[in-house]
Amino acid sequence: MSQQNIIIALSKGRIFKDTLPLLAHVGITPKDDPETTRKLILDTNHAHIKLLILRASDVPTYVQYGAADLGVAGKDVLMEHGGEGLFELLDLNIARCKLMVAGKPGSTDQPGRLRVATKYTHSAECYFAEQGRQIELIKLYGSMELAPLVDLSDCIVDVVDTGNTLRANGLEPLLHIADISSRLIVNRAAQKLKHREIADLVRQLDEYLAAEA
Ligand code: ADP
Ligand code: PRP
Ligand code: MG
Repeated sequence: MSQQNIIIALSKGRIFKDTLPLLAHVGITPKDDPETTRKLILDTNHAHIKLLILRASDVPTYVQYGAADLGVAGKDVLMEHGGEGLFELLDLNIARCKLMVAGKPGSTDQPGRLRVATKYTHSAECYFAEQGRQIELIKLYGSMELAPLVDLSDCIVDVVDTGNTLRANGLEPLLHIADISSRLIVNRAAQKLKHREIADLVRQLDEYLAAEA
C-alpha cells in the first residue's frame, strides 16, 4: 500500500529541540538543523514526511487550513488561536510552563480598570471577564516584563517557567490562568484521509510518552 505524504508544522527553538527526541523515537530524523539552515521545508529520512519551520503562533493556522497535516503547538498558542478546525491528538508534555498574570506585588489589588499588557489578548480577555474584572488591553509582541516597569501597564499576562525573567525585573507571578504544555494537533481532513499514517504515529508517540512518564 502506498504511503500518504505527511507534513508536520513545528517552530524553531524549544519546540523543535524538545520534539526531536520524540520524532527520533518514531524513526523520523530531519536532514537539516533549523537553527543553521535557512530552509523552511525540511526533508527527513522518510521521503513522504516533511517538516515546516514556522513562527510558534502560526502553527495552528497552517494546520487549520491544511497547509500542514500535523503540528506541535503550545496550549497557550492554541487557546489564543481558538482551536477552530483543530483536534488535539496528544499532550506531548514538552515546553511546560504556566500562563500567569504577573506584576509588582499587589498590582492587581487596586480597584478599577486594570491595564494589562500581553501578546495573549484573547486569553487575558477571557480570564478577566470570568473574574468579572474590567481591563484595558495593551497588545505587545514580546518583552512583556518591561511594561509594568515603565508604567505602560499595571500587570502582564505571559508564560512563566522558572520565574527568573520575572525576578530579574522585580516582578512576581500573581494569578494562575492555565498549565501549559505542547500538543500534537491535526485538522479534520488529514485525520480522515491519512488516518492510517497518523494513527500509527500517534500510537508510537503515545507508547514513548507513557514509558517516559
Ligand atoms: P515564541 O517565539 O512564540 O516566544 P517560543 O519558542 O519561545 O516561541 O515558545 C514556544 C512555546 O513554548 C510557547 O507557545 C509556550 O507554550 C512554550 N514556552 C514559552 N516560553 C517558555 C519557557 N520559558 N519555558 C517553557 N516553555 C515555554
Ligand atoms: C519566555 C516568556 C518569559 C520567559 C519565562 O520568553 O515570554 O519571558 O520565557 O521563562 P522563565 O520563567 O523561565 O524566566 P522566551 O525565553 O521564550 O523569550 P522570547 O519569547 O521573548 O523570545
Ligand atoms: Mg518565547
